[in-house]
Amino acid sequence: MSSTVHHIRGPQDPLDRLGRPLHDLRISVMDRCNFRCPYCMPKQQFHEHYRFLKSQERLSFDEIVRLARLFAALGVQKLRLTGGEPLLRTNLADLIGDLTDIPGIDDIALTTNGVLLGQHAVDLHANGLRRVTVSLDTLDKEVFTRMSGGFGALDQVLSGIDAAIAAGLTPVKINAVIERGLNDHTVLDLVEHFRGSPVIVRFIEFMDVGNRNNWRPELVVPSRELAARINERWPMQPVSQNYKGEVAQRWRFDDGAGEVGFISSVSQPFCGACSRARLSSEGKFYTCLFATQGLDLRAPLRAGAGDADILQLIRAVWSGRTDRYSELREELRRALPETKKIEMNYIGG
Ligand code: GTP
Ligand code: 5AD
Ligand code: SF4
Ligand code: SF4
Repeated sequence: MSSTVHHIRGPQDPLDRLGRPLHDLRISVMDRCNFRCPYCMPKQQFHEHYRFLKSQERLSFDEIVRLARLFAALGVQKLRLTGGEPLLRTNLADLIGDLTDIPGIDDIALTTNGVLLGQHAVDLHANGLRRVTVSLDTLDKEVFTRMSGGFGALDQVLSGIDAAIAAGLTPVKINAVIERGLNDHTVLDLVEHFRGSPVIVRFIEFMDVGNRNNWRPELVVPSRELAARINERWPMQPVSQNYKGEVAQRWRFDDGAGEVGFISSVSQPFCGACSRARLSSEGKFYTCLFATQGLDLRAPLRAGAGDADILQLIRAVWSGRTDRYSELREELRRALPETKKIEMNYIGG
């Protein structure tokens, strides 16, 4: 069913209890992944008997597009497709094509591990995708093997990045999760490799997403420590945000060779301006990356609910939102050690 809702931005847009608008929707289209990164889907936990969703449990493209239209009607301007690995979803480019037609959406991005990017870059661009973010934690082959759970091929990821640039999917951003003792010694190589290219590297502090990645505070390398190391080699200055609520702090090299970013959810939480909603591949709507509960939107969709009813459900949840997990991390971890948080592969970065 197609929607006839059109959005005129205004005071009717919902704000949450902390006054934050709903501007971004991150859609996980596939809970499976062809990697097993230890900070996200450790092999011991996500083994061959792990129960992933069945394909009929995942939202269809039509269902995703309908929900995206409704979110746009509430003020969402930016969509990000995530996974697991979104390129494992057959014909993903068709979905992109449909999403680009939604009035009010002015930015669509994709987060991928890059292995299948070489195969799909041209098609994705032809269907209206304009940029991609590739997860790449190191250029050291051995460390890469360890960090992809033995599944990844570094060469394929690098050629995927080249294919993305050639197809015009720029700027390509790299997400590098840094875990102390695992890949923190390879950070300067990563910076050096991409300096002066159209690729922007962003370093992400290892976060306690989900319950399966053995997170401990000692494994987090604070961004300030990394920035100091990089600055010593290639002096750089902080630059202002591209837009309000941007999660990465940007630093530009003095010699004109581009910029790097730091996403510091642990050492410098950014909940204050968080306008991000998340949709799982089975259609649950979450208001925080660290949520324990979501609202099932698939059931009403499949029961034939009208647009107005679904809009009302979304609006009610957003209006009641109080999430600021990263700001309260220590307190919440102490109070709720057994909390069942949702997993990263299910909700997407
Ligand atoms: P652009 O600026 O549009 O390129 O996107 P972005 O900076 O949001 O980048 P991206 O979507 O790639 O997010 C990068 C990483 O930041 C994610 O993979 C997460 O690890 C982290 N992140 C993004 N949004 C949130 C958030 O709301 N809360 C927390 N704690 N982490 C987030
Ligand atoms: N901490 C920080 N970032 C993470 N990602 C996945 N798991 C974690 C974690 N525990 C990031 C990956 C990828 C995106 C999907 O989320 O780097 O870019
Ligand atoms: Fe897959 Fe990305 Fe998670 Fe790694 S971080 S296991 S590539 S979804
Ligand atoms: Fe937003 Fe939750 Fe992340 Fe804070 S912890 S920035 S509220 S998603």
